[in-house]
Amino acid sequence: MLLYSFPPPMVRSKESRTAAHTEAIGAEVAETLVPGDVVLVEGELGAGKTTFVRGAARALGVTSTVSSPTFTIGQRYEAPVPVSHVDLFRVADLEAEDPDLLEAYLGPDTITFVEWPRDAQEEIGRLARVARRVRISHGGGDRRRVELD
Ligand SMILES: Nc1ncnc2c1ncn2[C@@H]1O[C@H](COP(=O)(O)OP(=O)(O)O)[C@@H](O)[C@H]1O
Ligand SMILES: [Mg+2]
Repeated sequence: MLLYSFPPPMVRSKESRTAAHTEAIGAEVAETLVPGDVVLVEGELGAGKTTFVRGAARALGVTSTVSSPTFTIGQRYEAPVPVSHVDLFRVADLEAEDPDLLEAYLGPDTITFVEWPRDAQEEIGRLARVARRVRISHGGGDRRRVELD
């Protein structure tokens, strides 16, 4: 049986054993990013998406505390290259909400991380370049699998 008619996208899988380790993986990914890049971060609640973004943002020079945006869909941080952190968990339908919401966070001069991108992926792709996709899954206890492509 022919499984792949084209080479599958390259996936690197890393095992994280601590939250600090997931932050370090975020920092590693951050080093490969350039202005205008978007990183989609997927995974269940509590998987470590925000932890990953925190490590990445710190590596990009963000000095303020990075936590989940609560009253907005995102947060912008000043840094040598500005960093945006968007969390669409509560946004079931971005178009219905406000089609311009994302524009405040994504753009050619910013590096953006998006948790729960789901249906917004097309819109995200219109505003900026999706550079990486990260999937984090629970592996029992504090273990997590971090897949990068
Ligand atoms: N290996 C690990 N990687 C990431 N987070 C971990 C890990 N082990 C334990 N944790 C904990 O799991 C929680 C992950 O929370 P968070 O990053 O907010 O997840 P999400 O954004 O995916 O909902 C944090 O409390 C973190 O300390
Ligand atoms: Mg989160």
